[in-house]
Amino acid sequence: MTQTREQRTHPTDPAALHAALRAGLPAHAVLTDPDVLAGYAHDMASFCPAGAPAVVVLPRTVEQVQHVMRTATALRVPVVPQGGRSGLSGAANADEGCVVLSLVRMDRVLEIDPVDRVAVVEPGVVNADLARAVAARGLYYPPDPSSRETCTIGGNIGTASGGLCCVKYGVTAEYVLGLDVVLADGRLLRTGRRTAKGVAGYDLTHLFVGSEGSLGVVVRAVLALKPAPPRQLVLAAEFPSASAACEAVCAITAEGHVPSLLELMDRTTVRAVNELSRMGLPETTEALLLAAFDTPDPAADLAAVAALCRAAGATEVVPADTAAESELLLQARRLALTALEAVKGTTMIDDVCVPRSRLGEMLEGIDRVARKYALTIGVCAHAGDGNTHPTVCFDATDPEETARARASFDEIMALGLELGGTITGEHGVGLLKKDWLARELGPVALELHRGIKRTFDPLGLLNPGKVF
Ligand code: LAC
Ligand code: ZN
Repeated sequence: MTQTREQRTHPTDPAALHAALRAGLPAHAVLTDPDVLAGYAHDMASFCPAGAPAVVVLPRTVEQVQHVMRTATALRVPVVPQGGRSGLSGAANADEGCVVLSLVRMDRVLEIDPVDRVAVVEPGVVNADLARAVAARGLYYPPDPSSRETCTIGGNIGTASGGLCCVKYGVTAEYVLGLDVVLADGRLLRTGRRTAKGVAGYDLTHLFVGSEGSLGVVVRAVLALKPAPPRQLVLAAEFPSASAACEAVCAITAEGHVPSLLELMDRTTVRAVNELSRMGLPETTEALLLAAFDTPDPAADLAAVAALCRAAGATEVVPADTAAESELLLQARRLALTALEAVKGTTMIDDVCVPRSRLGEMLEGIDRVARKYALTIGVCAHAGDGNTHPTVCFDATDPEETARARASFDEIMALGLELGGTITGEHGVGLLKKDWLARELGPVALELHRGIKRTFDPLGLLNPGKVF
């Protein structure tokens, strides 16, 4: 990161940078108005510093991205790649004086091939738009982050995003077959394949998945698709305690069921969602579990799971009768984060993931932390994946409460590691969890990370200061 510091002490003349960029980009693709630039300074994470970008570029072609990277390399200016800015770790936050490289205008679905079962897309395609485009051809692109109406495929690849259906269908990494990547010096790298199999060379494709814009700029992706499954049906089960709900989750898995969704919302989250949406979810319950099946006979699978929920202590088990009712329950879940934000104005959302068998201990621990710091921490979770979202609700105008929020957030990550989990199941490290990455990786892995970074980006220009 020495280069970055050098940049800060000897900033490039912005006018020279703008002129050099304009030499290879149309005028409308180079934004310099400070008010407009401010809108690109950060993603959705709390507590992550952001500098003022020197310029925002919005290329439409691979050649234009190459021009941006060549210019940045020539002038030694840091570059921060961005998608929909819905990230929750500050990975897309601007560095002072940087070029923000927004890929949102590269938003074409180039190909959908039902025989090879792949889609070839540009990075700025919005996740839900891709899902709809392939659904129209009888196909399915599963990864479905809650932000899917605004997040982009490039951002999903950058953070290795998850979502609700991942419990059955896996996360973004499992769908990325090949990539075109513009490297820091402007060279174009092609990785991977569009074949069903392929083992030639190191797996560079997956090195980029989750690299948070620190190794290169993805400009095209070959994504695997699935045949469209039958419509899923959802069941809602009310539990008298989070532990009982976790017991049900373990029983469902141990019995060999493969739900297409297995989500948990605690009482705080349920109340917050009701407050925001008037959805009328049951507020007296301590934990609401949502399970879904998209199997040929979802009603039979739901009946089996309902029995397991009752055996674990569920007080009410209500299967949705129709697809519309099912969709409503899922909408409630997708609203969780927005709803919790409304509780005290600000949230810090965590995404600690533990082995499913330790989920109960994790939730008990979060409850202890909330009581210790006298804070409201709402929890929703991709329970079937052991992936929790403890969401600390606090008043950011109160410094003392803010300090408690920060301390509780750290304690939750420590707990996740103690339980054999990871500090981030799907949101990435960015700036928010940078201090914690070394604790999870250890010195050997960290040294190799640094070596890989140097190989791809010897001048340290790509998203400097993020991840580690
Ligand atoms: C969710 C996001 C916050 O699960 O990951 O809603
Ligand atoms: Zn999530």
